[in-house]
Amino acid sequence: MSMRCAVFASGGGSNFGALLDRKVKGDLHVDFVLMIGNNSKAAAFDRANSNNIPALHLAPSHFHSEEEYAQTMMNALTEAKAELIVLAGYMKKLPSRIVKEYHNKIVNIHPGLLPAFGGKGMYGINVHKAVLEYGAKVSGVTVHFVDEEYDHGPVIMQKTVAVLDDDDAETLASRVLEAEHDTYWRALEAIALGQISVEGRRVKIQSEVNSEN
Ligand code: GRF
Repeated sequence: MSMRCAVFASGGGSNFGALLDRKVKGDLHVDFVLMIGNNSKAAAFDRANSNNIPALHLAPSHFHSEEEYAQTMMNALTEAKAELIVLAGYMKKLPSRIVKEYHNKIVNIHPGLLPAFGGKGMYGINVHKAVLEYGAKVSGVTVHFVDEEYDHGPVIMQKTVAVLDDDDAETLASRVLEAEHDTYWRALEAIALGQISVEGRRVKIQSEVNSEN
C-alpha cells in the first residue's frame, strides 16, 4: 500500500507538478489523496483537477474561529486517510492542532540551507535576495519536518546549489527551484519506503534514493 499524501499549496505548484511527474515515471511510490489550498486561483488546483485529486479551498478567513478552521482541515485529512502532509509552497501557518496530530508527518521544502535564511518573512524571492546580499557562496534546498516554529523542524535532506558571481535573485531562484524538484521526491520516497528514523533533531535515512540516479 502506497503512503497516502495530502499536498498543501498556495501558488504555482511546480513542486507538486514535479512530484506528480516522478509518480508517473514510477520513481515515487505514494498516493496523492487530497490537495488543500488557501488561494482559489492557485495553479496547484489545476494540477489536482487534471490528476483527479480531490481538492479543497480552505482559508482561515472562511471560519469564525481557529478551532473551526482546524477541525474542518482535520476532517478533510481524516476522510482522505492522509498519512503524510506535504507542504509544497504553502504560505499559511498550519493550525497548531494539525502540527500536533501530524507530529513528524508534515514535510516542507525551503529554498535555502536552513537554519540560515529561514524564519518568518523568509520565503520565495526574499530568501535568494538575502543570500546574495549576505554574499554567501552556496545556497540550496532543505526538506524538513514541520514543527510549531517557522522553518525549524528536523532536517530530512539538503542539497547545495552554488551561488555564481553573476547571479541575481531570479537566476539563483530558478537553479534552486530545479534542485527542489530533484530533491523533494527523494525525501518523500525515503519516507514512503520507511527508510527514515527520527531521534530528536537527527533524521537518519538508510536509502538508495538519497544518492543521485
Ligand atoms: C518553492 O521555492 C518552495 O521552496 C517554497 O515555495 C516555493 C513554491 O514553488 N516553499 P512552487 O509553488 O512549488 O512552484
